[in-house]
Amino acid sequence: MSNVQIMDHPLIQHKIGIMRVKTTSTKEFRDLVAEVAMLIYYEASRNLKLADKEIETPLVKTTVKEIAGKKLCVVPILRAGMHMADGVLRLSPNAKVGHIGLYRDEKTLEPVEYFCKLPSDAADREIFVVDPMLATGGSAIAAITLLKRRGIQKIRFLCLIAAPEGLKKLQEEHPDVDVYIGALDERLNENGYILPGLGDAGDRIYGTK
Ligand code: PRP
Ligand code: URA
Repeated sequence: MSNVQIMDHPLIQHKIGIMRVKTTSTKEFRDLVAEVAMLIYYEASRNLKLADKEIETPLVKTTVKEIAGKKLCVVPILRAGMHMADGVLRLSPNAKVGHIGLYRDEKTLEPVEYFCKLPSDAADREIFVVDPMLATGGSAIAAITLLKRRGIQKIRFLCLIAAPEGLKKLQEEHPDVDVYIGALDERLNENGYILPGLGDAGDRIYGTK
């Protein structure tokens, strides 16, 4: 079964608390998405392998560490994942970026794919899929299925808020994917929204509602 980490860091809890407030402005919300994503990525990247590298400081030769082996790739699920990707890129600026466009059909709640563009060497990279909300799990499962069909194997999934229903489904469908969650909420409502949640992440980031 996959490894699931629910963040208990005070900074993450504090910032997600501000995001939940309905009067938080679009700008502040957007900034917080990137900040919290960066903090979650800090944990999600903890087990990346290191290698030694010989360098010269201004004084002497020495050995330092650098991230070894596979290169990195962040894959935001559009639209709302974009600002999480910005946070990840602040810490790993050389990571490549793939995009998967999915939206939830408002009636069926099923994900509809409309875009996919990945780096040509994505299968050789460690992949961090990012999306603020894991609700029914449909979008995350569809995105990860699509990546696996393209030969991508090492996948981590990062979200700000998850519902227990979506987390269970994601673990059943993709037990090999490690999941990093900012906050695990209570449940879904009858419209597939997370409670207490923060509303529609895409609309709050882009001010579209
Ligand atoms: C939101 C969110 C996830 C999805 C989660 O996106 O960003 O992608 O819903 O729901 P699920 O777990 O039930 O699939 P949305 O479909 O609203 O699209 P948007 O990002 O373009 O607003
Ligand atoms: N998508 C969102 O943006 N918010 C939810 O609560 C559920 C799905």
